[in-house]
Amino acid sequence: MSESNVFIMDHPLIQHKIGFIRRKETGTKEFRNMISEIAMLICYEASRHLELVDVDIETPICKTTVKELAGPKLCVVPILRAGLGMVEGILNLLPAAKVGHIGLYRDPETLKPVEYFCKLPQDCEEREVFVVDPMLATGGSASAAITMLKKRGCKHISFLCVLATQEGIDRLTHDHPDISIFIGIKDKQLNEKGYIVPGLGDAGDRIFGTL
Ligand code: PRP
Ligand code: URA
Repeated sequence: MSESNVFIMDHPLIQHKIGFIRRKETGTKEFRNMISEIAMLICYEASRHLELVDVDIETPICKTTVKELAGPKLCVVPILRAGLGMVEGILNLLPAAKVGHIGLYRDPETLKPVEYFCKLPQDCEEREVFVVDPMLATGGSASAAITMLKKRGCKHISFLCVLATQEGIDRLTHDHPDISIFIGIKDKQLNEKGYIVPGLGDAGDRIFGTL
């Protein structure tokens, strides 16, 4: 299977920050701050392809032409809960983006995603969508979220995550070969409970302090 649309970040800052949030002694406040910073750095890469237009302006010195972002407009869609931790960092870079929400949780027995919420901007089908969730484990949640978005007409979709397994990448590229996937780091495997190894534990619990 082609992985030409899968981008694994090798940036030292991202690796350093992921090392910090893996530590079990990292507290909720530091974890939340760091996830937000990592999301911003991944978004920097994920937005590399955005189109620019020429705009004529005047500096205090002279007239000149500068570049500004062209369309399509953007929409960030966190998968609840843990995806919420990535939104602020992304909006720091893309403040004009709208935000939709998809609520999914993984059934602990079957590991299958269960949908409980979906609220998207009315014009989401015209927007480029960044789906965000720190964890791509089996890939079931990300795949289901992207299916929900496609049913609502979204066409230009990227998925941004912090940790991923090969299993999750394979699932997502199989189910949605048309999307781009941006990954902070690829981990070794899943354990028998569906947790990423070495991972960082339950991302939602660590962001919201519900351990
Ligand atoms: C976690 C994580 C992903 C999902 C990844 O959410 O944030 O959404 O698991 O697993 P998958 O790739 O195997 O589907 P969880 O279901 O724990 O919900 P929460 O964010 O509300 O804690
Ligand atoms: N979801 C998490 O929060 N952590 C994992 O390791 C796997 C899925």
